Amino acid sequence: MSKFITFEGVDGAGKSTHLAWFADTLRQRGVDVVVTREPGGTPLGEQLREMLLNQAMSIGTEAMLMFAARMEHIEQVIKPALRSGKWVISDRFSDASFAYQGGGRNMDWNRLKQLELWVHPDLQPDLTLFFDVPVEVARQRLANNVSLDRFEQEQSDFFERVRAGYHRRVQENPQRYAVIDAARTLEQVKQQLEKIIVSL
Ligand code: TMP
Repeated sequence: MSKFITFEGVDGAGKSTHLAWFADTLRQRGVDVVVTREPGGTPLGEQLREMLLNQAMSIGTEAMLMFAARMEHIEQVIKPALRSGKWVISDRFSDASFAYQGGGRNMDWNRLKQLELWVHPDLQPDLTLFFDVPVEVARQRLANNVSLDRFEQEQSDFFERVRAGYHRRVQENPQRYAVIDAARTLEQVKQQLEKIIVSL
């Protein structure tokens, strides 16, 4: 049975490192896994990503481009893979739009729900791993990066709102999420993930 799993968290939470390990571990257990990301995952989506991460734009444009990239991603990558029985692991999905555009940029939550309903009325992740970490810890982890994109350059208050946006999403639909304490060491986080893999 195919599964759609998403990884979420503020920049610096460490989700991408853990995603690679998580996918490898599933593969070792014989699961056919497709790893992908948002914004991106298709040629057009990657072009939109380039713009979204580097070019200034209005909040509404930002939200709609995120969902435009997502629509391509769903039609071209996610749904075909799920239909053929594969597991899809995406580094971010719609929760990121609620957290970043809704929380971070204060965009109207219901307007985002309308976009979500339009773009994927019949698709939600089976499971979302939310890497939760205090903003100051995430900021410290990003401090070593040489170049920061348009989102990573935001200040702590932006990331506090992003984190609150994620918490709001979790509260709205708690059964879909596994909340990972990402402030712990890599080893401790892996132990949390191992338990999830066993349960899957
Ligand atoms: P990444 O750094 O995890 O690859 O994600 C790229 C950035 O895009 C990250 O800072 C979060 C942001 N983003 C949004 O603002 N809204 C979205 O819907 C998605 C998918 C990502």
